[in-house]
Amino acid sequence: MSNHRHAPSQTHYDVIIIGAGASGLYCALTAGRRGRRVLVLDHANKAGKKILMSGGGRCNFTNYVVEPEHFIGANPHFCKSALSRYPSWEFIGMVEAHKIPYHEREHGQLFCDDSAQDILTMLLDECTAAGVQVRLNTQIEAVQTFQQQTPARFQLTTSKVLNKKDVASDIKPSQAHYSCESLVVATGGLSIPTMGATGLGYELAQQFGHTLIATDASLVPFTFTDKTGELIRALAGISLPVIASNERIAFKLPVLFTHRGLSGPAMLQLSNYWQTGEIISINLLPDTDVTALLLDRKKSHPKQLIRTVLADSTDNALPKKLLAALQTHLWDDIKDTELANIKDERLIELGTTLNGWRLKPSGTEGYRTAEVTRGGIKTDEVSSKTMQSNLQDGLYFIGEVLDVTGWLGGYNFQWAWASGFVCGEVV
Ligand code: FDA
Repeated sequence: MSNHRHAPSQTHYDVIIIGAGASGLYCALTAGRRGRRVLVLDHANKAGKKILMSGGGRCNFTNYVVEPEHFIGANPHFCKSALSRYPSWEFIGMVEAHKIPYHEREHGQLFCDDSAQDILTMLLDECTAAGVQVRLNTQIEAVQTFQQQTPARFQLTTSKVLNKKDVASDIKPSQAHYSCESLVVATGGLSIPTMGATGLGYELAQQFGHTLIATDASLVPFTFTDKTGELIRALAGISLPVIASNERIAFKLPVLFTHRGLSGPAMLQLSNYWQTGEIISINLLPDTDVTALLLDRKKSHPKQLIRTVLADSTDNALPKKLLAALQTHLWDDIKDTELANIKDERLIELGTTLNGWRLKPSGTEGYRTAEVTRGGIKTDEVSSKTMQSNLQDGLYFIGEVLDVTGWLGGYNFQWAWASGFVCGEVV
């Protein structure tokens, strides 16, 4: 951090927000409604790009049931205050006031009927109505603090992001200077760099002495090498309900086999709780005790084959292609052996595997496809009521840049709205 004595000509704002994403726009409209002069800066050529691509283009904008348990972070209590002051029905109320059609999907998730663009348009309209200025294509070059006591605490030096034509004709970007009383960092996480994600928020936090909790890609599919990887890739396209778990948590949701590994809601949710090198467990027949079933059948239908039992006897029989692949992988040597001639121990072993297939992912697809970034700015150094830095007056952090990560299901947006709101109320 450097101190600045002689500011060049600059435009002053009460509040400058870096990042025109979900949390930045919500904070801006909240502060603007209070009569604060607000400027939002973003290096992207469009505001809210992640909103537009969210929820498969329909934006899962919140959830009917929002509890602190739906969030992870080193300090699990940090999110409580903002979430209780800005419950999901507040956002739903705004969506309804804008007559945006929406629907509920399983587990209380709320999606737009038409398009995520409706949510972005609503936020931008509210910003305009509140007098907020949004400046895109703006690179943040430096953030400095003023040494002398003035209402302005921060000075920002920015430059215009050049388009390809300007770069080709060697045009140098012109600089601009802004000052502000409150500076809000709303730059999000590192996921999907092609959508404009950068580590600027973390760099600024460090500039002001903040600690970072190690970041990692989260809400992200798992990848596999070795034989398991081959098996999974061969099953690409298959989806089935499972219980995916590790020692910390279990989710009963669908898994999706893909050409790259395992995806689907069950895997994305579990990835929030997964550390590199850990084993995950997948119960492929969550409503059936497979060991008991095989042992029963051995007594009642001793001539049956394992695949026959598994294909016809369960409420949620395994997809045929998966069953065939599992047979090759797990019981190829006894595939044509009648149950009567298979030792109980082998049936128990097979039942245990099908009710808890233990897999060791080689990794995840990483930030390229992750929905969120886990970790971030340590929340012990930030006020949970206002999002203000405990280390620098007038500096605020909101949204995903903080070490608060939500489950899949609209929780990350709810955190963006809630943290943006409580901050917008005080800046
Ligand atoms: P966000 O990422 O929204 O905004 C950050 C802004 O800062 C961006 O506009 C960026 O350009 C800008 N910025 C970054 N670096 C900068 C720099 N150096 N200079 C200037 N500006 C800079 N969540 C959910 O609840 N429901 C859902 O349906 C989905 N779906 C979904 C799909 C996909 C594909 C992704 C990637 C993510 C989701 N999410 C989601 C997660 C959700 O999008 C995310 O948690 C929020 O957008 C976070 O809001 P923020 O405001 O913190 O960051």
